[in-house]
Amino acid sequence: FSNITNVDDMKIREELDRAEQNLANDAAFALTLFNNILEKSPLSPRAFYGKARSLDALAERKKSNKLLDEAIIAYHQVLKLNDVPDALFQMVAERCINRARFRGVYNQAVPVHKLLIGRFPKNVHFQNELAVTYLTMNNFYEAKKVLYDILSKWPLNGFAMVNYGFILKLYDLDLKQAVKYLKRGIETKDRGVIDGRFFYHLGDALLRLGRKDEAMAVHIDGVNNKVFLSKYQRSLHNVNRLLGKPWWKKEDIPNTQFFVKLEQNWKVIRDEGLQLLNTDGLFKTETEDLREVGDWKQFELYARGIKNVKNCRECPKTCRLIESFPDAVGCKRGQIKFSVVQPGTHVWPHCGPTNCRLRSHLGLKVPSNVFIRVANEIRSWEEGKLLIFDDSFEHEIWHNGSSTRLILIVDFWHPQLTKEEKRTLSSV
Ligand code: LMR
Ligand code: MN
Repeated sequence: FSNITNVDDMKIREELDRAEQNLANDAAFALTLFNNILEKSPLSPRAFYGKARSLDALAERKKSNKLLDEAIIAYHQVLKLNDVPDALFQMVAERCINRARFRGVYNQAVPVHKLLIGRFPKNVHFQNELAVTYLTMNNFYEAKKVLYDILSKWPLNGFAMVNYGFILKLYDLDLKQAVKYLKRGIETKDRGVIDGRFFYHLGDALLRLGRKDEAMAVHIDGVNNKVFLSKYQRSLHNVNRLLGKPWWKKEDIPNTQFFVKLEQNWKVIRDEGLQLLNTDGLFKTETEDLREVGDWKQFELYARGIKNVKNCRECPKTCRLIESFPDAVGCKRGQIKFSVVQPGTHVWPHCGPTNCRLRSHLGLKVPSNVFIRVANEIRSWEEGKLLIFDDSFEHEIWHNGSSTRLILIVDFWHPQLTKEEKRTLSSV
């Protein structure tokens, strides 16, 4: 412990070590011992550190957020003491950031990042980590500033490059510049750059720029780097063993009866959907930047396995029908919604987030000249008929017709998932 023990702590070293020995087995007792030391030596970095670790260990054992908050504050206080050895400073700061992130209190991590960077200004890793925290907070503006600074000093840092490119793509919508940074960043093969998000958005930016061959090369590179399941199936939240194929038939799914019932009752669903369309403001515009041009709106009934009670009241018959299918209403990785697309719309090729759901489309109002491509096959909707596909595969939509297209989208768990997986998989 010599490199975490300053001159004054050296004098009470035995006492500190004794308290520390209790940490693993009896964190409560260790806390008492560290508090005793602090009464005599209130500025001891190691005693304060020991107190923080005791609180941290107790928080973990008791699963207590209150204790965790106290631990985060205690770690932070250590950093403000005088004469904290470098090794201790780094350890405490990194643990404090780790716990603040775990707790979801990112704004408490930020000042700790800044202290760490102030102390070790030549360590680019600590600066990249601040950018990561800002990104997790969806604070693209601050993340971009940090990354810009890093790249002005370390222009070849791969981790900063991919994250900077990621922001240019998603926040600035500057596809060309995004491609440049994502591509160069990935090419460094630095730690952290081989990540599906960077491959996905590089490929996507290239597709939108019309550079299809380059996009395909990135997708294949992604498969070789094991970040994609296949060149067409580029979802990032996957259970790897699941059968993946672009198109499904209702007969492929154990609960075929549900889909038969949906088709039999399509007119009831259509009438409710059309009724909703008459009321302004019910349908919400797609906000994920998936359209090249046009108008695409949705009315959500279920999302991530949670019912939108208010919206369901507006179409009770549709909701009652769907509620007979637990794999749909309980699908924490899916949605159930009416989806309306107007003439002149093009939805860019894209992949859903997960291979754990399949997506069914019930045609309700289908003019001619509307198309959906999934992987390499183009089909069309039909009124009263279902299309079932795996939206983790690349898909693209065109409306070249002359009147509104309305469908009901029902996502449901992939039939090969176990009960346990459906219960425990995180929401997407
Ligand atoms: C999609 O799920 O991406 C689209 O198919 C939705 C739609 O309304 O066509
Ligand atoms: Mn989609």
